[in-house]
Amino acid sequence: MELSSVVPWGRSLSEYKEMFSLSNRDLSKKILGCGDGPASFNAELTEKNGNVISVDPIYQFSADQIQSRIDEVYSQVVEQVSKNKDDYVWKNIPHVEALGKARMQAMRLFLADYRVAKESGRYLNASLPALPFDDGEFEIALCSHYLFLYSEHVSQNQHILSMKELCRIAKEVRVYPLLSLRDNQESPHLQPVIAELEAGGISVSLVEVGYEFQKGATKMLVAKSV
Ligand SMILES: C[S@@+](CC[C@H](N)C(=O)[O-])C[C@H]1O[C@@H](n2cnc3c(N)ncnc32)[C@H](O)[C@@H]1O
Repeated sequence: MELSSVVPWGRSLSEYKEMFSLSNRDLSKKILGCGDGPASFNAELTEKNGNVISVDPIYQFSADQIQSRIDEVYSQVVEQVSKNKDDYVWKNIPHVEALGKARMQAMRLFLADYRVAKESGRYLNASLPALPFDDGEFEIALCSHYLFLYSEHVSQNQHILSMKELCRIAKEVRVYPLLSLRDNQESPHLQPVIAELEAGGISVSLVEVGYEFQKGATKMLVAKSV
């Protein structure tokens, strides 16, 4: 992975709670955050005595390298969102400036934690579809804004292998959103992935959540090994 191809953009614990309908009981479980990037989910949950490991290929880079990449792309991303304002629901986040502020705050929390915790094993450089964990090692695996969202760049086969891998290492897998970034429509990979998982004995449901920023992104996928 080239750092120049990465656009760091991270969400907070409160957004993860809403995107994945995480209860306090869920948050006390052993959780994997897959593709957490510069989100502050791990930093904030660890602060509250949570038990969470994050994996992402950007963790091969140092905090300084990620920080400079954030500084490089931040205004471009804000400008891009401004141009496509109608693709988003401006309710909890009222306007583009508030969005920029919230994302920067989350990324600052991430960077501060990452600087001190990189060696602790809470941030691992690993990538789907092969994760360095034992079968059933986690109670919950979460994947926010990677699978399905980047349907144009990540193939259907890669989606299937990735979801099977997440179901191997966690008893329950939650993925959000399920829409493609290109057109805000259901990912073309969603139904084939569900069919493959169900054929392998995994139960899958699509569950409404109380979060919507990308217009129409109101559901998460929940997969459970039975
Ligand atoms: C849009 S960011 C989402 C960050 C975070 N999950 C959030 O919601 O704030 C997508 C993340 O997916 C990561 N990613 C890219 N390829 C991946 C792979 N093969 N396996 C796991 N994560 C990957 C990227 O490095 C990036 O940090």
